[in-house]
Amino acid sequence: MKAEQSALCEEILRLKKEKNALIMAHYYQRDEIQEIADFIGDSLALARKAAETDADIIVMCGVHFMGETAKILCPDKKVLVPDMSAGCSLADSCNAEELKKFVEAHPDHTVISYVNTSAAVKALTDIVVTSGNARKIIESLPEDEKIIFGPDKNLGGYINSVSNRDMLLWPGACHVHDRFSIEKILQMKKENPGAKILVHPECRRPLQLIADKVGSTAALLDFARTDDAKEYIVVTESGILFEMRRQCPDKVLLAAPAEDAECQCNECDYMKLNTLEKVAKALRDEQPEIIVDPEIVEKAVKPIQRMLELSR
Ligand code: 13P
Ligand code: SF4
Repeated sequence: MKAEQSALCEEILRLKKEKNALIMAHYYQRDEIQEIADFIGDSLALARKAAETDADIIVMCGVHFMGETAKILCPDKKVLVPDMSAGCSLADSCNAEELKKFVEAHPDHTVISYVNTSAAVKALTDIVVTSGNARKIIESLPEDEKIIFGPDKNLGGYINSVSNRDMLLWPGACHVHDRFSIEKILQMKKENPGAKILVHPECRRPLQLIADKVGSTAALLDFARTDDAKEYIVVTESGILFEMRRQCPDKVLLAAPAEDAECQCNECDYMKLNTLEKVAKALRDEQPEIIVDPEIVEKAVKPIQRMLELSR
């Protein structure tokens, strides 16, 4: 670690102690942020941790909807995101007004929304899910329940196929997971025939079909750690490799490239907006802070709590 970075880390550690702050990071964050975080997890683990923390300040090193989810669960705490412009193309693919019209056109449907949505979309939702619990929650509902699932069409399609459902799917997608190239990945498999393929369910159907394991970031980590193969092609945002290499030091982990990528990996530009400098500044200034309209909080907290109850 460079001297400049270690001075920032020292400042972050001092400030978080002084202010009783908790630093949380998603697996797609830069390595150095995962290194200083108190807690690293997938979307589900981050929501669970936010619901139970007694810290006064939460610094959510992830994207905006993750900060909003934490704020909805802990409205009395200060929730900071190091860079307010860290959005999400998937959350942006579902606008609350359009969803409202769609829901009104299908009044007998239960609305299930992926956690990668705005607070306003969550407020129109019956149950929130993450990629870590979507299948379990949907399978816990009666088979004939009519469901609207949004916004990720790839995750929704995956659940429709494995759980034999016919949910109405919102046509959204994540620009990172939707642009992995099946051709490039099949070529990698040809060059590394012993490698198993790990795929996030936000990827397209053909990739789900060639996968040895489809799962959330936490599920893919678990699989790589406990499975007996020596090599894996990891088809999700490449930030996960930091924790995967830490947990599986003896395995060969190959990042899968995007269709149009010049480099050998696929990164979420939004996730990478957070830096150590911005984490230190957020703790110093107690800004930028997530603010959610209390009326929206009141509605949005119910489907998130329902998710936490159903995924226990
Ligand atoms: P999980 O953390 O649920 O695996 O989701 C991945 C993701 O795209 C988060 O933005
Ligand atoms: Fe959103 Fe995709 Fe980035 Fe996750 S990886 S934050 S779903 S744009």
